[in-house]
Amino acid sequence: MTTPVSGPGDGTDGPSIRPAERADLLAVVRIENESFAQPWPYDAFERFLDEPGFLVAVRGDREVAGYIVADVAQTFGRQLGHIKDIAVHPDHRGTGIGSALLSRAIAVLTARGADSVKLEVRRSNEGAKRLYRKFGFEPLRRVPNYYENDEDAIVMLRKLQ
Ligand SMILES: CC(C)(COP(=O)(O)OP(=O)(O)OC[C@H]1O[C@@H](n2cnc3c(N)ncnc32)[C@H](O)[C@@H]1OP(=O)(O)O)[C@@H](O)C(=O)NCCC(=O)NCCS
Repeated sequence: MTTPVSGPGDGTDGPSIRPAERADLLAVVRIENESFAQPWPYDAFERFLDEPGFLVAVRGDREVAGYIVADVAQTFGRQLGHIKDIAVHPDHRGTGIGSALLSRAIAVLTARGADSVKLEVRRSNEGAKRLYRKFGFEPLRRVPNYYENDEDAIVMLRKLQ
């Protein structure tokens, strides 16, 4: 089911956000490869196809411009949302697509009972950290050498209720 945030028919040219489908995966993996030094492989995305928090932003008819992967897990009796991956095609960054994906994913996690959402971000990824701060995420702790190049991760958390 497609639930546009904006797009054809409502007088704007923004992308539609909808659950990811198998036919989107090649485009998703292409964006992933252009976005990360340690990209997720195809089958990592395939495993999340039934997950309501795996969303794509689609421009026009079918062009996948970005995606987000998020889920909810029971941790110490709490329902903890987790933003696992988010990227926007380099040609379409800075146009609000990342914000639209994050906003919709947070709505999905809230609807699924999450009481907070966490994510990991590279310490050097200032653009992503700014995006997350704009959405109310606060740095919680640093995980030394989290990434393969020994870069630290910053764990960020936002309470939902
Ligand atoms: C991070 C990413 C998903 C943001 O997507 P986007 O569509 O460009 O984001 P938006 O256009 O919605 O921008 C939202 C906010 O993010 C921040 N931001 C995003 N990219 C930025 C950059 N390169 N420099 C500074 N701020 C940036 C800004 O605060 C911006 O808000 P503003 O426009 O009001 O200033 C995108 O840059 C991307 O795919 N990066 C590569 C992959 C990545 O690093 N993913 C995050 C892994 S933790």
